[in-house]
Amino acid sequence: MTEYSKGLEGVIAAETEMSFIDGKKGVLEYVGIPIGELSANSTFEETVFLLWNKKLPKKGELAEFTAQLRDRYAPPEQILDMIRTLPKEAGTMHVLRTVISALGMHDDDANANDLEAARQKSLTILAQAPALVAAFDRHRKGRDYIAPDPSLTFAENFLYMLNGKKPTETMARAFDICMILHADHGLNNSTFTARVVISTLSDIYSALTAAVGSLRGPLHGGANEGVMVMLNEIPTVADAEKYVMEKLANKDRIMGFGHRVYKAKDPRATDLQKLAKKLAEDTGNTDLYEKSSKIEEIMEREVGSKGIYPNVDFYSATTYHCIGLELDLFTPMFALSRLGGWSGHIIEQLTDNRLFRPGAKYVGPHDQPYTPVEKR
Ligand code: CMC
Repeated sequence: MTEYSKGLEGVIAAETEMSFIDGKKGVLEYVGIPIGELSANSTFEETVFLLWNKKLPKKGELAEFTAQLRDRYAPPEQILDMIRTLPKEAGTMHVLRTVISALGMHDDDANANDLEAARQKSLTILAQAPALVAAFDRHRKGRDYIAPDPSLTFAENFLYMLNGKKPTETMARAFDICMILHADHGLNNSTFTARVVISTLSDIYSALTAAVGSLRGPLHGGANEGVMVMLNEIPTVADAEKYVMEKLANKDRIMGFGHRVYKAKDPRATDLQKLAKKLAEDTGNTDLYEKSSKIEEIMEREVGSKGIYPNVDFYSATTYHCIGLELDLFTPMFALSRLGGWSGHIIEQLTDNRLFRPGAKYVGPHDQPYTPVEKR
């Protein structure tokens, strides 16, 4: 047995060919390609192909992959009916977790775990999840469901189903970049969760359902909603200093900062910062961007020496707000993208599976007498 590491920090628990992180230098690569190159030049569809196939697609391969995805955009009617029965005040991450689980009950072959089945199921779930999130958002607003449009990209189609009109090129591209940036990130908590579940040879729906449950936590993907709450709590840029200093003095966490792996600025935050700045200017939300960059300045001064810098969630809050998304859709957006990463890891796990079963260091007493209940 190796030494106990709280939170499994520093423990290597799987091999992956999908993403590489150098936390000290602030580097992230998907299959060896720097994340900035992908966010500048790729699309979400191409990025998922890259992660699943460990190579960039040729033109024909990309066209075929995209067509397969678009063919599957429409979710089963029964799931849409189920969404219409859900409480309108339910959190969207709870809904997403529930509908991914429910999709498994509409798959006659849900338990198949051969690699081809895993790939096909991954494609279907990835294709349908946006419609399910959009369907719930419209249901809670008393609006009719809008069927997916297979002539649209993954990003365009989601915004179309949500809002009932096709997004501008700028908004669709901004959303596409967010999807690229969130697609994979080593053995983060939700990815580990998915790999742990599939390692029992359970089923892909169970693994993804568990991953959604993990992602929603405020220390993980839920932080992007926490960032927006914080930005709303700070009335003006001039109030940021007092707000942050009070939080730090109380030993509270500033959402969107810090990372188990990065001790430098998360490269995704660098990309999202540029995006947030541009979108904030375009949409009249410069106050949000200015508050964010002020918070970053204070945090760098106060805790930068401890390696606490903005992570992916910090500027994604402003970005999603400017795209017009409601607060409780922020973490589901992370999930829609990360479904690509989770599925890739599930396929990797199934390719060379070994059951995850770590040990626990027992710290309780030994050789205790059994005392009958009436004598305790
Ligand atoms: N604000 C203030 N102090 C912080 C923060 C923060 N956001 N993050 C870490 N620290 C301090 C912490 O108080 C501790 O200080 P000390 O040594 O004086 O007690 C030190 O840094 C180490 O913290 P830790 O909790 O042991 O570090 P960790 O590796 O377990 O934490 C983290 C990683 C992400 C849970 C943490 O940085 C955090 O809670 N951040 C805020 C939530 C957040 O933004 N989460 C998103 C993570 S990135 C994307 C994702 O996974 O979804």
